[in-house]
Amino acid sequence: MAPSVAIIGAGFGGLCMAIQLERAGIRSYTVFEKAGDLGGTWRDNSYPGAGCDIPSHLYSYSFEKYASWTRRYPEQPEILGYLTHCADKYDVRRKIRFRTEVRGLVFDGRKWQVSTVSASPEDSDDWEVADASAEGEGAADDDGAAADDGGGAAADDRGGATAVASESGGPGGSGGPGAAGGTGGTGPQGWSGPQGWSGAQGWSGRPGGSGVPGDGEVRTEAFDVVVMGVGQLNRPRLPDIPGMADFDGVSFHSSRWNHAHDLTGGRVAVIGNGSSAAQFVPHVAEQAEHLYAFQRTPNWVIPKPDATFGPLTRLAFHYVPGLQRAYREWIYRYAEGTLYPALAQGWSVDLLRRRALAHLRDQVPDPELRARLTPDYPPGCKRVVIDSSFYPALTRPNVSLVTDKIVRMTPEGVQTTEGTYEVDTVIYATGFKSTEFLVPMRVVGREGRSLEERWKEGAEAYLGISVPDFPNLFLLYGPNTNLGHNSIIFMIECQVNHIMACLPHLAANGPIEVRPEVMAAWRRQLDAAMARMVWGAECQSWYKTADGRITNNWPGPTTLYRRLTSRPPWPAYRVVGAE
Ligand SMILES: Cc1cc2nc3c(=O)[nH]c(=O)nc-3n(C[C@H](O)[C@H](O)[C@H](O)COP(=O)(O)OP(=O)(O)OC[C@H]3O[C@@H](n4cnc5c(N)ncnc54)[C@H](O)[C@@H]3O)c2cc1C
Ligand SMILES: NC(=O)c1ccc[n+]([C@@H]2O[C@H](COP(=O)([O-])OP(=O)(O)OC[C@H]3O[C@@H](n4cnc5c(N)ncnc54)[C@H](OP(=O)(O)O)[C@@H]3O)[C@@H](O)[C@H]2O)c1
Repeated sequence: MAPSVAIIGAGFGGLCMAIQLERAGIRSYTVFEKAGDLGGTWRDNSYPGAGCDIPSHLYSYSFEKYASWTRRYPEQPEILGYLTHCADKYDVRRKIRFRTEVRGLVFDGRKWQVSTVSASPEDSDDWEVADASAEGEGAADDDGAAADDGGGAAADDRGGATAVASESGGPGGSGGPGAAGGTGGTGPQGWSGPQGWSGAQGWSGRPGGSGVPGDGEVRTEAFDVVVMGVGQLNRPRLPDIPGMADFDGVSFHSSRWNHAHDLTGGRVAVIGNGSSAAQFVPHVAEQAEHLYAFQRTPNWVIPKPDATFGPLTRLAFHYVPGLQRAYREWIYRYAEGTLYPALAQGWSVDLLRRRALAHLRDQVPDPELRARLTPDYPPGCKRVVIDSSFYPALTRPNVSLVTDKIVRMTPEGVQTTEGTYEVDTVIYATGFKSTEFLVPMRVVGREGRSLEERWKEGAEAYLGISVPDFPNLFLLYGPNTNLGHNSIIFMIECQVNHIMACLPHLAANGPIEVRPEVMAAWRRQLDAAMARMVWGAECQSWYKTADGRITNNWPGPTTLYRRLTSRPPWPAYRVVGAE
């Protein structure tokens, strides 16, 4: 009998897993998605100018090529449209339980007990806040998820798992890890701004939006297999600048854009200058009376050679046999052959540096501004920004690059060591909680071992997919599988292939887990490969923990990752209880 599979998240990762199960004729799965729609990154990041910087003929599934891309680097609506197209074409939407957040999971010796909280329809407006402000507040309740197995994988069309505990009552009710501990209106930072900004994470859409839906349904269900598709860049990170709650204007995070707020004619502060800020600053600069771009550390920036695809090109992609495949292959080989060696401190390091410096020289005539925009760390140590509009925006008369140190936020704006910048709006482009991985979910594996405890010095997993003592639990876009040079979708497909190859083995023999000695060898190999990568140089980035351990990036060529993940998985795994 096919195993029952819980997939958590309906972004590129979770959808890829669902589609491959469908294609294999396995219908005993459920996708849990805490938001009200699919798309993950491409649902949340709707800021002006949001788009990919890997051409979409590569930043898309290999099994679902798409001749209709209108440009080389499409913007967010088009990428979200592609994902919607995939979900509908492969008919996986019917299996997605939207507005259902997984709070925790416990392995009971045979199956995973998965605890969820679902929003009721009348709570729908609040859900974005709910998923945000709940974070870290859902106090774990070990007892809840250890509810009795209830057994079986009796598949219904919604999933294939058997509900073993279901109760209404929402946060504060019992029911599973994380289910207890309701939230009020404020986020983890304990404040709720005057404009409905809910603290650390989200835009509520209305002032003082509440936290977790009041009467959400709490359930615990049993699954044979759990696949995590929660992404690395799903949870916005706010800085801890003193006085943030005191600001009297409107503030929001770049990935929770407040589309209801008109920036026209206003004074805007943008804090952060990574890839997100680089994309929206040129658009905001066109609207604002004045934009203050706060930069703590300059980034290396290279041009984005964007181009539109006219109707003839699109027809050619559609009808000329092999053209899309060849184009995709060319982009892949270019990224692998040119950009990867720069990150591995190989032959193209100087090429990358020269390209970035030439781009800066071409776009920023003022030597004083250029000096402030020139990084003092090696290119690639932080994510290289790929963009052709950011520098020109910084040269506009209504834009100031501010490099003073921020001291605090005041009711009027941003106070730095040099003075106060009075603004009406603050946009935090301060990135994501990237190194926390599955937080705030509580994951308890064999013999009560918690993933949080195992990962206290930094997340790690064999191939970024499997963790010893956590049988039949698989991660997509897990630790050390992010790239600075190529498509994450390529990596996700490799991971899904590996998991699909594990399924017959665990279905025939019972739960499997990666062998501890395989994990130890993996860690040694990873450390050795990591030592030559540029990410370890003197710079701060979202790739590493506060202690400097690089938990996010894959240090090898992606061709190697494909080879490793396409090997038969059996030798690396053991059947739980068989030895
Ligand atoms: C602005 C931006 C641009 C990017 N551009 C590129 C690019 O050009 N090229 C590239 O390769 N990569 C890019 N990335 C990285 C991008 O995140 C990945 O490429 C990819 O989209 C990750 O997909 P995912 O499904 O793993 O995660 P996500 O897209 O983050 O999806 C995770 C999903 O899980 C859901 N979820 C999380 N926790 C729970 C829970 N407890 N219960 C239920 N549901 C949950 C979330 O709501 C979300 O829908 C970009 C990232 C950002 C932020
Ligand atoms: N495809 C694309 O074009 C695209 C677009 C957007 C995002 N992405 C992906 O998403 C990742 C995240 O991008 P992001 O721009 O959202 O986040 P990010 O790269 O993590 O950048 C965060 C920015 O906020 C600044 N910052 C953080 N805390 C601060 C503080 N207390 N005071 C002042 N500044 C502070 C950082 O400065 P420091 O550098 O000094 O830390 C940095 O400039 C990217 O690296 C990329 O992988 C891709």
